[in-house]
Amino acid sequence: MSAWEKIRKEWIRPALFFGNNLLSLAGGAITSAAAFVLIGFWVVDAFGHGGTQNPYIGIILDFLLPGIFLLGLILIPVGMVVRRAVLRRMGKVPSVYPRIELGDPVFRRGIEIVAATTFLNFVILGTATYRGVAYMDTESFCGETCHVMAPEGTAYPVSTHSGVACVDCHVGSGVGGYVHAKVNGTKQLIDVLRRHYATPIMPEDRLPPVGQTCLKCHRADAWMGDRVFISTTYGDDEKNTRSRSLVLLHVGGRSVAGALSGIHGAHLGHIEYISTDATHQTIHYVARTEADGRVTEYTDTDMKTAKVGVRRVMDCTDCHNRVAHSFDTPEHAVDRSMLAGAIRPELPYIHKESLELLKAFYSSREQARTEMAARLARFYQSGYPELWQKDQYEITQASSRLAAIWSQNVFPFMKVTWGTHPNNLGHNDYPGCTRCHDGSHNAASGKSIASDCSTCHNVLTIDETNRKQLADLGVE
Ligand code: HEC
Ligand code: HEC
Ligand code: HEC
Ligand code: HEC
Ligand code: HEC
Repeated sequence: MSAWEKIRKEWIRPALFFGNNLLSLAGGAITSAAAFVLIGFWVVDAFGHGGTQNPYIGIILDFLLPGIFLLGLILIPVGMVVRRAVLRRMGKVPSVYPRIELGDPVFRRGIEIVAATTFLNFVILGTATYRGVAYMDTESFCGETCHVMAPEGTAYPVSTHSGVACVDCHVGSGVGGYVHAKVNGTKQLIDVLRRHYATPIMPEDRLPPVGQTCLKCHRADAWMGDRVFISTTYGDDEKNTRSRSLVLLHVGGRSVAGALSGIHGAHLGHIEYISTDATHQTIHYVARTEADGRVTEYTDTDMKTAKVGVRRVMDCTDCHNRVAHSFDTPEHAVDRSMLAGAIRPELPYIHKESLELLKAFYSSREQARTEMAARLARFYQSGYPELWQKDQYEITQASSRLAAIWSQNVFPFMKVTWGTHPNNLGHNDYPGCTRCHDGSHNAASGKSIASDCSTCHNVLTIDETNRKQLADLGVE
């Protein structure tokens, strides 16, 4: 018996015979239906009208439909096996399956169709799987599909790194990074479905090494020299008096002569530290390895158990920890909105009122919006009735701006509120640099980590309100 005849006799004929059952036929129908829908969506998508921007449609397209498709494929052999078992129990399995003639054009067409469908199935399923994986890597999956990522997903689109995919910072390169991320991601997905996750979500373990993330786009020792940093704040007085601070930050790097200096240069060596909390706000042990291999250990004089805890090697993200999803302080958010005119600085006491409204407790966005509007209206109606008559529009604009600020920074269902995710760059809003540079981290020699104001910047002016002075500095 030739091989072909053998296959025909022992496989194809029985397959066709047993395949003639409801389950298998239904499987075939489900599979083709799912395939048609999928192809239809892809065609629509290709012409730019796809709904894949919407994460929930994305889940259907890239996970649910291929799942149904696969289910249909599985049903076909299951149906065959069941029918065979049933016929066997009834003793009705024929000893010779109905003959199939290769010369029979109907049968040959059948074979061709089966072969073509199988090929098509293979292509469809392959593409679907590929798309599913690619989809899981997009911002809409990471930041929106999964509501537990809402805080980061909200802060991300307005960050400097909104063009950088979540995975470019959160997934290391190579197979290891990919597998780690998928295993971790699947675990997280299951945790979310079981409603078993931490609130708020804190940065648990490290990001992949910066060599696989930041340094794909940035150079660690690029020379940046000095940078002017300007901050504008408004007062709590009736006039919301504006003041400005200017510092000239010595960011440094590696100069053309090859020397490392400044803020970047100073930390490019090997610095390790131990902290006592999840966001590394309390650091009581720092060890710096000098170029010649000597290690200088600095311990916080107030701490007794300095060396207990997890050691971390300092890198970019210890200062730039909020590059892609930074949460504001109420003060910063209000100052920025006032500077941009989104909250009119001419409204009396608006700075003080805004901060009070933002810091109050609301259980939902809806409540925040209505209460802020009502309370601000009441404030001006009772204290400044004429102004309320005249500038009602500006006042309602201000309260909607405040509601927007609140919604971008406070997420009650995730227990994320003001200050949950501190920003380590600087020292005015959070400990930041002063976690180490506070004058009380001392080496055995008595030397402490530098903390003079001039170590990091020249202070050009602090809280200056005099417009002439500011004009002389070129910022008025
Ligand atoms: C430019 C790099 C970068 C990008 C892009 C990025 N992240 Fe992050 N992410 C970080 C850093 C840095 C941390 C803080 C790590 C630390 O403190 O150890 C972090 C922390 C987190 C955390 C822990 C909680 C927190 O807020 O600290 C979550 C959750 C998170 N990111 C989600 C996302 C999501 C979702 C996206 C895409 C929408 C994203 N990230 C894009 C750099 C990035
Ligand atoms: C895929 C490329 C890419 C990756 C990865 C990346 N960045 Fe950037 N980064 C950029 C680009 C492009 C800009 C300029 C953006 C602009 O000015 O609008 C930038 C700007 C910055 C800035 C200046 C603006 C700011 O937000 O203060 C800092 C600081 C920065 N990146 C740090 C980091 C750190 C730290 C990481 C790693 C956690 C990182 N970047 C990862 C591309 C990247
Ligand atoms: C010790 C803290 C610290 C570390 C560590 C650090 N930076 Fe910075 N970096 C700063 C400060 C401070 C600035 C100035 C910020 C400003 O202008 O507001 C800055 C500025 C920058 C800028 C923006 C310059 C610009 O054009 O405005 C980039 C990009 C940057 N850093 C990337 C990195 C990368 C990449 C790493 C890791 C190799 C790194 N930084 C490590 C503190 C740090
Ligand atoms: C984990 C601890 C740690 C943090 C956080 C930290 N530094 Fe440092 N920094 C050090 C150590 C250790 C040295 C080296 C000891 C020294 O020079 O006093 C150093 C040195 C420096 C120097 C050089 C000082 C000199 O005398 O030349 C500058 C400038 C500096 N840091 C700026 C910053 C800035 C700005 C930040 C915050 C954005 C910051 N550092 C955050 C540990 C830290
Ligand atoms: C270890 C480094 C370091 C030391 C020491 C330091 N600063 Fe700063 N300072 C910074 C950095 C970094 C920023 C920029 C913050 C940013 O980019 O958001 C800054 C910003 C400022 C600002 C700008 C206004 C603001 O609201 O952020 C003022 C004012 C200031 N520092 C004052 C001081 C004074 C006064 C001292 C001394 C008592 C001092 N700093 C010591 C690193 C330092």
